[in-house]
Amino acid sequence: MLTTTQNETVSGVKDHRLHCPGVLARLQACHDDIRKRLDVLEAVGHDLLASGRFTRRHLASMCDAFAFLDVVVPLHTADEEETLFPELCLRERRTSRPSRALAIARSEHAGHGVLDLRLKIAVLRREAKAAGRLAVDLAREYRDHLCHEEQSLFPWAAEVLTDPELLAEMEKEMRERWRDCGMDVPGMR
Ligand SMILES: [Fe+2]
Ligand SMILES: [Fe+2]
Repeated sequence: MLTTTQNETVSGVKDHRLHCPGVLARLQACHDDIRKRLDVLEAVGHDLLASGRFTRRHLASMCDAFAFLDVVVPLHTADEEETLFPELCLRERRTSRPSRALAIARSEHAGHGVLDLRLKIAVLRREAKAAGRLAVDLAREYRDHLCHEEQSLFPWAAEVLTDPELLAEMEKEMRERWRDCGMDVPGMR
């Protein structure tokens, strides 16, 4: 049976990995990978705000971060929206659990797309200050989103998704989604 841990990581984020193998471990591993790129994006953003001009180094770092995030974030979001959330919705109806956490996660997924697009337009136009501000905002908002999921949705999922067959099926679905794009689902490397 899956259980959540209350272990705190150095950053203060709850760590559910130790007792949540499979689906939640994959989602958590993906969060960890995304956080590393958000750190890069935020650092470039602060640099742009301070210097007020784009250099080749800024562009290279941003392109590298986008190359990763543009592939991994949509796949991760699909893992949540198409594999995890439908199962939580089913349990939500059965247990009358508040739907607020799911609604927030869904609206945040939509909101990040808008911010991401505005950032790329600012980069295309070489608007250093605007790109810097948007990069910092996007990194902060996405990090908040990851924390929200780890503190509300993942513990709930660990509590209610306990059927080994269902979990195996969900994990297979996620693996196939990533494999179709030539990628390994995080946590399986
Ligand atoms: Fe998400
Ligand atoms: Fe997530």
